[in-house]
Amino acid sequence: MAGMIPVEKDVARFGALFAAAATTTPQPQPCSATSVIVAGMGGSGIAGRLAQALAERCGGLRVSAWSDYGLPAWADGSEHVFAVSYSGNTAETLSGAERAIELGTNWEAITTGGRLAALAHEHSAPVTAVEPGHQPRAALPLLLVPLLRRLTLSGIEAQVAEATEVLAEPAGDAGAIAAQLNGKLPFIYGAGGLATVAYRWRCQIEENAKQLAVHHALPELDHNEIVGWAAPPGNAVIVALREPDEPARVAARWEASRAVAWRDVPVVECRAHGKNPLARWLSLVQLGDAVSVELAHLNGVEPTPVVVIEELKRRLEE
Ligand code: F6R
Repeated sequence: MAGMIPVEKDVARFGALFAAAATTTPQPQPCSATSVIVAGMGGSGIAGRLAQALAERCGGLRVSAWSDYGLPAWADGSEHVFAVSYSGNTAETLSGAERAIELGTNWEAITTGGRLAALAHEHSAPVTAVEPGHQPRAALPLLLVPLLRRLTLSGIEAQVAEATEVLAEPAGDAGAIAAQLNGKLPFIYGAGGLATVAYRWRCQIEENAKQLAVHHALPELDHNEIVGWAAPPGNAVIVALREPDEPARVAARWEASRAVAWRDVPVVECRAHGKNPLARWLSLVQLGDAVSVELAHLNGVEPTPVVVIEELKRRLEE
């Protein structure tokens, strides 16, 4: 932890970190594969999840985010594998890289170093070096931009440029939102790519504010979780992550879900900014990160340390 940049400092300059990554990362030299696997856990894994959501929305290639040991059983060596680990020492991501080597797959690492960089050097796999000193989850812009620039995602450069502009301004009043989540169990929901952003909110509230949160995706939750609202916990609050000009069928679903299941539950609505999916989704990542830091202050905890994760990793290495 000594010398580590506090999470709250990085959260406050999320837009500046993104702009710096957009300027310093080499201009796009996409890999030619039409199917890629992005292996990564936790704060590093979210980069792959966002890339998968972008590919699902914009097309250009197939991206499968993978957060487990090894690689999916269907991987046969024809894919291109990205092993994304900020520390370079995460067991699951290392085992993904080892599986790629076994399969003879083209692979590369995005990391600050560690055993992952050593493995890549040993096997002549490319390494994108990321600036050290951050908490992995706070380094999202530094991991995401180089990843996106290696993928043949439709219109990605224009999206990176727009995101840089949009992220220069905060997307909402994080302090006011945090006050509504304080002492509550937030259920964070989003449709499409915003379901991935809901997952980021959940992880950031858990890691930074040391508070449990739940997330789910619309429309899927309308087919299961919505029934559970018959007996909600007394401290439940819903956070609705929404895009401007969302399709009418999505807007109708939000309204109908509220009418049938959430009548007596407070709903905090957060609207994304921007035209393109990347800017929109990251505007709400930026807001959620800021909310998690404000909540940490309200909870009287330090956002940066994640002692439990570190202790768990140490135990598993013994
Ligand atoms: C820590 C964090 C964790 C790590 C995860 C994987 O800030 O958010 O979720 O990201 O334990 O570690 P790395 O990212 O080093 O592969």
